Amino acid sequence: MLRMTGVSKEFPGVRALSEVDFELLPGEIHALLGENGAGKSTLIKVLTGVYQADAGEIELDGRGVRFTHPAQAQQAGISTVYQEVNLCPNLSVAENIFIGTSAGRNAVRWNAMHREAEVLLERLGLRLDVRAPLGEYPLAIQQLVAIVRAVRVDAKVLILDEPTSSLDRGEVEQLFAVMRRLRDQGVAILFVSHFLEQIYEICDRMTVLRNGRVVGTHPVASLGREALVRLMIGKELAELEELQHDTNGGAVLVQAQGLGRRGAIAPFDLQLRSHEVTGLAGLLLTLGAMLVATIPPSDTADPFLFRLKVIGGATAFVLIGGVVYWRGRRRPRPAAGSY
Ligand SMILES: Nc1ncnc2c1ncn2[C@@H]1O[C@H](COP(=O)(O)OP(=O)(O)OP(=O)(O)O)[C@@H](O)[C@H]1O
Ligand SMILES: [Mg+2]
Repeated sequence: MLRMTGVSKEFPGVRALSEVDFELLPGEIHALLGENGAGKSTLIKVLTGVYQADAGEIELDGRGVRFTHPAQAQQAGISTVYQEVNLCPNLSVAENIFIGTSAGRNAVRWNAMHREAEVLLERLGLRLDVRAPLGEYPLAIQQLVAIVRAVRVDAKVLILDEPTSSLDRGEVEQLFAVMRRLRDQGVAILFVSHFLEQIYEICDRMTVLRNGRVVGTHPVASLGREALVRLMIGKELAELEELQHDTNGGAVLVQAQGLGRRGAIAPFDLQLRSHEVTGLAGLLLTLGAMLVATIPPSDTADPFLFRLKVIGGATAFVLIGGVVYWRGRRRPRPAAGSY
């Protein structure tokens, strides 16, 4: 469906893509993986005409293409949905699907537009009130509407850049159901995500980038998680475990022992110190979210005494004041009609 051959892209001082060969097949869900800065977004932007490649060829359906604007890529059948939903919450679901198209401009044919929106949604197994303002639906549904909008005109390639970052498990399932339907309809899907478990669940193949180079394309079933991580970071895991622990932090404010969650996080100890930012990192990125989830949100907990559930039924106490529990939230949506 889509082929990149020898594609390179340089920014001042950085070779973001180096002679990248990459192939996307119809009816597959293909993961694009790599550490931060590996070149994933640059690859997508070169594909969609946001950037122009310095060298190399891009073929869509066997024909050479060279997009100089994202609208050209969209017209040719390459649609992209980003993590942030850039739709208008105060317009209806149907309007959001058709805004900017000729159907959207023809204000007289409301009924036809509503029917057409329903048909498009149904094709992906979605039943929504297309007359309701989009903003009345949860963000996850708004994102699905963004996908319907993206694929409404015969999309051949759908690019999803970190679409699951703010979805809960049920919402991810719903997105995956839509992705599977699109795959079964022959759409080639490029999926960027840092959630390795999700990649193993939904993807057929994966391509790993490191420092702008493709270091491998593999069927998901043939590359285990450890091998994948080695490929992504270019190091043995043992080397990473040898990294020195060094800190200039002050007094220990939080001391927790045996934190964990049955079946998800093996018990570990955690210290938070003053004058120190403590990062929680994990391959699954869910680690941080799950750990925070074991700490009760501040409005339900005694602010001076947190009980942390630990594996094995034991309990650790954290005696501190002023813990702030902040759930990540996305930026406010743009609104149309209020200019
Ligand atoms: N517009 C730009 N100008 C200069 N350098 C850039 C630009 N865009 C990306 N880069 C650099 O190119 C390299 C690849 O960046 P890119 O954003 O493609 O990585 P990524 O794999 O998408 O990372 P992340 O997982 O953080 O999104 C990085 O070194 C980055 O700093
Ligand atoms: Mg990126």
